Amino acid sequence: MTTPSATKRVLVKSYGCQMNVYDAERMTDILDGQGYQATDNIDNADLIILNTCHIREKAADKVYSELGRLRELKAERKNAGQDFKIVVAGCVAQAEGKQILRREPAVDLVIGPQSYQNLPELLARKSRSRHVDTEFPVDDKFKSLPSPSNERAKARGVSAFVTIQEGCDKFCTFCVVPYTRGSEYSRPVADVLAEVKRLTDVGIREVTLLGQNVNAYHGLDESGHSASLGELLKRVSEISGIARIRYTTSHPLEMDENLAFAHRDIPEVMPYLHLPVQSGSDKILGLMNRRHTMHDYLDSIAMMRRHRNDIVFSSDFIVGFPGETDEDFQATLTLIEEVGFASAYSFKYSVRPGTPAAEMDDQIPEDVKDRRLQILQALIAKQQRRHQDSMVGKTLDILVERKGRYPGQMAGKSPHLLAVAFDAPSDYIGRVVQVRITDSVTNSLVGTLV
Ligand code: 5AD
Ligand code: SF4
Repeated sequence: MTTPSATKRVLVKSYGCQMNVYDAERMTDILDGQGYQATDNIDNADLIILNTCHIREKAADKVYSELGRLRELKAERKNAGQDFKIVVAGCVAQAEGKQILRREPAVDLVIGPQSYQNLPELLARKSRSRHVDTEFPVDDKFKSLPSPSNERAKARGVSAFVTIQEGCDKFCTFCVVPYTRGSEYSRPVADVLAEVKRLTDVGIREVTLLGQNVNAYHGLDESGHSASLGELLKRVSEISGIARIRYTTSHPLEMDENLAFAHRDIPEVMPYLHLPVQSGSDKILGLMNRRHTMHDYLDSIAMMRRHRNDIVFSSDFIVGFPGETDEDFQATLTLIEEVGFASAYSFKYSVRPGTPAAEMDDQIPEDVKDRRLQILQALIAKQQRRHQDSMVGKTLDILVERKGRYPGQMAGKSPHLLAVAFDAPSDYIGRVVQVRITDSVTNSLVGTLV
């Protein structure tokens, strides 16, 4: 017979963007302090949190199919006299709230992305009543989040996410984010610096600063001045132990030259910019309410390149937005040809109830979306490969992240975020080393330590 242990175990399953990955880490930190150990094995979990994504229909659907499976598991556990709690967090929780409790009776708690600091209190409630908490106190959330224990921080390896900005006021007509994450909010500079410092204290060498509109960052500094992202990058780079800084996701409307100066002047800021454009057609950009033209976008790219000539770009694209003709799609392909992306995410337009585009005429048939997506992805794959292949023969700075696939091999990332494998001692993890690139294979580079 096994003795039930006093420690409870929590499994946090995250879907969607990097912001959710960050939130999932923080939820685990909060619960760690409440006697819940993190596990990735559902069989020994007493609590599961689904940290959900609402951005496209498919992502939202996943939640309900997962909940169906969990309902059965909960029933099995109940028969065995065991407690098992199911929490739905993240953006589906925010968007659907009570509806989730109605649709899925096995769910105990629904908690939005701005309220998860209340998890311990809500889980500790004795009452059997099921609960929904989808308030928007972003400020409170960050204030009441505990620091990770040293063990948990160490488990993150050499690279970590830090959310510095949340929410969106842009209201692109296809997007649910302004409704699920609320309006734009920037964390104060001192809070961000303190969090980065805690991470570097336990060996983190690279931080990726996260925000839905990260380049709209305008957090207050110690003297009450509203700091730009460029200024924050400078402050973060001064923290000892920081080797690399990245940030994502930027918006074309918020590009300013100070950011280009940061890339030029701060060696820790990596030469990589994720700048979603969505479409290359001005007509579609207008219907999307992006509030910039294709030329504005190309101007931003040129401005960044002027100050940092080795910078590379990635983007997000939506194909099959309502009203998109073959010509509009062709304009997107032309823009891609013109920029030359190192990487990109691309999606078929997905109708999101409650957003303006859902009501637009001229919705595009699924087979047309499929065809366009295939063409676009083939073009991006070609550019990606060309970019990767162009590294052969060069010597690159590689941040060593972990052991590689083969004995004696280590793996790390180049400044352009390319995966590189090479032979090196295993205690090199966390160091930035020079590697001469000898070969380019599927999805990674191979090289030798210089
Ligand atoms: N359909 C398809 N893609 C979408 N995105 C956001 N909303 C939708 C939607 N309704 C994509 C955009 C955005 C990325 C995070 O997700 O490209 O930049
Ligand atoms: Fe969504 Fe547009 Fe805001 Fe990005 S900028 S989160 S796509 S509304």
